[in-house]
Amino acid sequence: MKKNRKVVLITGCSSGMGRESAYYLSKNGYTVYAGSRTPEKLSDIASENLVPIALDITDQNSVARAVQKLERIDVLVNNAGYGLVSTVEEVSEAEMLRQFDVNLFGVLRMCKAVIPLMRREKAGVIVNISSFLGKIGLPLFTLYNASKYALEGVTDSLRYELRPFGIRVHSIMPGFFDTNFARDNLVVNEGIRKENSPYAQTVSQLLPLILEQINHGNDAAQIAVMLHEIIQQSDAPARRTAGDKARKFIPMRRELSDEDFERRVRSYYGI
Ligand SMILES: NC(=O)c1ccc[n+]([C@@H]2O[C@H](COP(=O)([O-])OP(=O)(O)OC[C@H]3O[C@@H](n4cnc5c(N)ncnc54)[C@H](OP(=O)(O)O)[C@@H]3O)[C@@H](O)[C@H]2O)c1
Repeated sequence: MKKNRKVVLITGCSSGMGRESAYYLSKNGYTVYAGSRTPEKLSDIASENLVPIALDITDQNSVARAVQKLERIDVLVNNAGYGLVSTVEEVSEAEMLRQFDVNLFGVLRMCKAVIPLMRREKAGVIVNISSFLGKIGLPLFTLYNASKYALEGVTDSLRYELRPFGIRVHSIMPGFFDTNFARDNLVVNEGIRKENSPYAQTVSQLLPLILEQINHGNDAAQIAVMLHEIIQQSDAPARRTAGDKARKFIPMRRELSDEDFERRVRSYYGI
């Protein structure tokens, strides 16, 4: 590893935005530690500047082991996350807790482990990969929405907390992107699959449409480029939107009243 290269740690790198970003940054002057529960899946892109490491963000010991291996961390990208599809009525206790354990508490575990190293250097950048669904609600995605809304809150608060130490905190809010998110990693509650579910109408109306939009969504390479820009620009904005859906809905959300926005979303998705 070359000493003058900045060190980036990214979570959830076996696929999608994490994998794309790890590769891109490793080719653009950074040494990337690509965290994954299955680091062997990164062997095809591993190099001197892209080092796969075992990392399960729901396991405090795994987080500590991964961070201890690194002498320095200049940039942390909290990317690992998944979507739970469920109604509130039917969601199980385990599904609720798991959604927050990965999408929110996993991020906090990573921040807790990395902040002391960044504080020592009086510099650092933390980028949270949130979602446009961190500002906009959708039926069947309540738990995912809630985890990403909470993550937006983490970004807002941490920015104040870490500013005196020269550490920047940012959020990227992607729209729908064609990754493994809907192909392999979506968790669908059993109850909502049943034909006699009281929510069958919403499920059959909305779910195929959303899955189709994700699987034909934007290219994860856009996230890699955006991350690079945020790392390089000391005055980068607190949050950036990425992809068509985020650029469509986030400004609309800001401009319209809650009720008008809801009407637009209901009409767009036919719900
Ligand atoms: N794709 C979209 O439309 C979209 C839109 C908005 C926001 N996002 C957000 O973007 C981030 C990256 O997602 P992606 O689209 O690149 O999807 P992806 O291809 O499924 O990658 C997500 C990564 O997160 C980790 N992960 C997935 N499920 C997990 C679980 N149950 N427990 C622990 N880790 C898990 C996995 O990493 P390892 O297996 O390597 O550990 C996985 O490679 C996520 O935070 C997601 O919420 C995605």
